[in-house]
Amino acid sequence: MEKTEILAPSPGKHNLENYEEAYKNFRWEDVEKEFSWYTTGKVNMAYECVDRHCETWRKNKVALYYSDGVRDEKYTFQDMKFMSNKVANVLKKLGIEKGDRVFIFMPRSPELYFAVLGILKIGAICGPLFEAFMMDAVRDRMQDCDAVALFTTPKLMERVDLPNLPALKHVILVGAKDEDLTDPRFHSFEKLMEEASREFDIVWVDREDPMMIHYTSGSTGKPKGVLHVHNAMIQHYQTAKWVLDLQEEDIYWCTADPGWVTGTSYGIFGPWLNGASSVIRGGRFSPDDWYATIEKYGVTVWYSAPTAFRMLMAAGDELVKKYDLSSLRHILSVGEPLNPEVVRWGMKVFGIRIHDTWWMTETGGQLICNYPCMPIKPGSMGRPFPGVYAAIVDDQGNELPPYRMGNLAIRKGWPSMMRAIWKNEEKYKEYFRLEPWYISGDSAYKDEDGYFWFQGRVDDVINTSGERVGPFEVESKLVEHPAVAEAGVIGKPDPLRGEIIKAFISLREGYTWTPELEEDIKQFVKKGLAAHAAPREIEVRDKLPKTRSGKIMRRVLKAWELGLPTGDLSTMED
Ligand code: WT7
Repeated sequence: MEKTEILAPSPGKHNLENYEEAYKNFRWEDVEKEFSWYTTGKVNMAYECVDRHCETWRKNKVALYYSDGVRDEKYTFQDMKFMSNKVANVLKKLGIEKGDRVFIFMPRSPELYFAVLGILKIGAICGPLFEAFMMDAVRDRMQDCDAVALFTTPKLMERVDLPNLPALKHVILVGAKDEDLTDPRFHSFEKLMEEASREFDIVWVDREDPMMIHYTSGSTGKPKGVLHVHNAMIQHYQTAKWVLDLQEEDIYWCTADPGWVTGTSYGIFGPWLNGASSVIRGGRFSPDDWYATIEKYGVTVWYSAPTAFRMLMAAGDELVKKYDLSSLRHILSVGEPLNPEVVRWGMKVFGIRIHDTWWMTETGGQLICNYPCMPIKPGSMGRPFPGVYAAIVDDQGNELPPYRMGNLAIRKGWPSMMRAIWKNEEKYKEYFRLEPWYISGDSAYKDEDGYFWFQGRVDDVINTSGERVGPFEVESKLVEHPAVAEAGVIGKPDPLRGEIIKAFISLREGYTWTPELEEDIKQFVKKGLAAHAAPREIEVRDKLPKTRSGKIMRRVLKAWELGLPTGDLSTMED
């Protein structure tokens, strides 16, 4: 093993200055006191995100900067208040009530953000769907929780399976022409908005009332509807303060789509609870557009994902030099393992650290993170957020000592924890089968300094000759080799060793596959990581199967290898 590198804390003043002290003293109850509902008992996430700021000078502060190459707009907190009030009035007029499921299936646009807040203002449950979903995926999700209303566009309407959505009473079409309104259930968003008042009496709810439903895939079966409640704001607020380190002057850009939990928890709630200015970029990924976005708005805090960083890295360092990115002061990552190689690249081209954060749809908010005030060990997800107790446990729930690989578990009870899996009590209970733990399904180990190191999903851990090997470590090493663009590693059954390590890779431009190159790559991993961690077999593919969020689908690789069916591919890119 290589010696662990350590990157010194980020320079400058941060909202969290002393992690150790905060870890000892912080209580979530102290955060509750910052919200008005601590005394009134009345709560609504949308009020805390938007309306509350309109009672201060922030009402004229820009909440949302939006551009997509065609539109270029900005909205103050007061604008957001009025627009979301209008949406709430529209829904009220249509008879939508507290607890109803209202879905959004549309590309990122200001209207999407008005809709989320408007849905919450009338106490309904918001179900955001990623615009790239195809018909089956959209139907499965909306059917599962009997969605009664949907915000979408005429174009995406082609993928809404109306005949099989009997519960759906209203479809609100954004950007519709008269001829698009072909069904009595269809309404023009613009017309309804024009008629609606900009004043609305918020529907106050209980802190434990449901707020969001995010669908997520498990390793088996149909997607699960993960239900979150308004109480999650405590965690969104405090993590955005200490992990995103959002300060009054910041211009913040979260690149995630609200169809995924990162795009709501940290693309909407966290930043706006803190009164921060947010940038939303519409359209698809392109390295040029992304750097141009940072330059255009002077983005200071940037939250993205390893897959995006790797694509930017592949676009080359020359491109970075074409833009003025000097406004950036804090970069964060989530969703999959952040390879040390990417962190090193970040240091080189941006001159600052990329901070890994670990959490899941089910956890609603960040749980294990790297903080600006804390040294970073590249490859590590960091340390538990104050108020969160994380541990590595065995299959009976016993805590394991440092460096032992096991189940990454969290003591249950953090504020943004999911409260249910829609109509699936059994699945929900599975996560909590080992009292008092929430079992994440990830495997990891903890080092002697309390840093957590991701190893893979539990099913993916490889056992070769009695040694447990995390596929991520091997993949990270493989992609450091100059010839390797992407790598996915699985355990292949072997009569002698239990499993051997098999790597699927794609090659970088300009490399040809030869026995010499294969041997070179094997030696590279052997030398860089460990002999037992080196792949015994390497197979080259043009492309590896990935989810839309960029995770290599090892389960698909495994199915290829074993000649088994690949299962549900609804989350696969392309
Ligand atoms: C799974 C959750 C909530 C953010 C978006 C993903 C993997 C997440 C990390 C990280 C290594 C990570 C885990 C986790 N994951 N963050 N920093 N390092 N792996 O949410 O789609 O619910 O996926 O993503 O395997 O269990 P999600």
